[in-house]
Amino acid sequence: MPGNPQVYGDGSTDYEKYIRTQELFKLQKGPSEWANEEELLFQSVHQSMEIWLKVVIQHAEQAAKWMEGDNLRDAARFLTRAARIIEFLAGSLKFPMSIAPWDYHKIRMGLGKGSGQESPTFSRLLDIGKPLLAAFEGVLKRRKATVDAVHQDPAGNRDLYDLTIAMAEFDQEFMHWRYRHFQVVKRIIGDGVLSLKGIPASSLEKHANSAMFPDIWAVINRTTNAYNAKYRPQGGGGYTTAKT
Ligand code: HEM
Repeated sequence: MPGNPQVYGDGSTDYEKYIRTQELFKLQKGPSEWANEEELLFQSVHQSMEIWLKVVIQHAEQAAKWMEGDNLRDAARFLTRAARIIEFLAGSLKFPMSIAPWDYHKIRMGLGKGSGQESPTFSRLLDIGKPLLAAFEGVLKRRKATVDAVHQDPAGNRDLYDLTIAMAEFDQEFMHWRYRHFQVVKRIIGDGVLSLKGIPASSLEKHANSAMFPDIWAVINRTTNAYNAKYRPQGGGGYTTAKT
């Protein structure tokens, strides 16, 4: 068998046929191709991220369709679930974090100029913010609402408020993933070196703080200021920042 992949079972049961276990196992390098005993983990974390991000993209696209049809409850449900999947993926970055840098370099030798930056699902995810935001703004427009008004009366706008929070969670978990990934990079190659693409690894750090939906974060500052202005008309200061 080429590369000697570890293939378990014989593929004959209904479970194996449905899951397509034989084909699945063969998508991974076998022991004779591994740079070392860490490579199966490295390849598995990447391959499973591609599959899970496919689910995240489907959920985000479906959420946008539901928003366009004013089905806010299901849109919020799918966006929140997508956020939980991204959170789970960020958690799974703990596994490669324990690869010793010296051992990772042996795997890295086989990557060519390959980089996670070329991940097709990750690239698609970076583009998904625009249609999601357009769908969300469409809902606000039809409801003659603003994110500020929704935040200042969450109980009176329950469905819109829950949707706004689902958008924020999606954004938050994506930034968390990027932050966790930056931590992996710091642990394994360092933040003072160039990536295989010749980009400083430290450039990943600023992405970890760049929101897909900046106004969904800025409204929280405005809500604090609005509350302060209403209940403390004499002022009190200290609440206004450059981000409002
Ligand atoms: C094991 C140690 C890892 C190292 C040293 C590493 C290193 C890097 C570096 C340096 C970049 C910057 C892009 C470039 O190459 O120019 C990058 C980007 C990326 N990597 Fe990794 N990576 C690691 C693990 C992972 C894992 C396990 C995943 C996925 C499960 C992953 C997914 C990505 C993605 C999606 C990007 C683009 C990130 C962004 O734009 O914020 N990486 N990686």
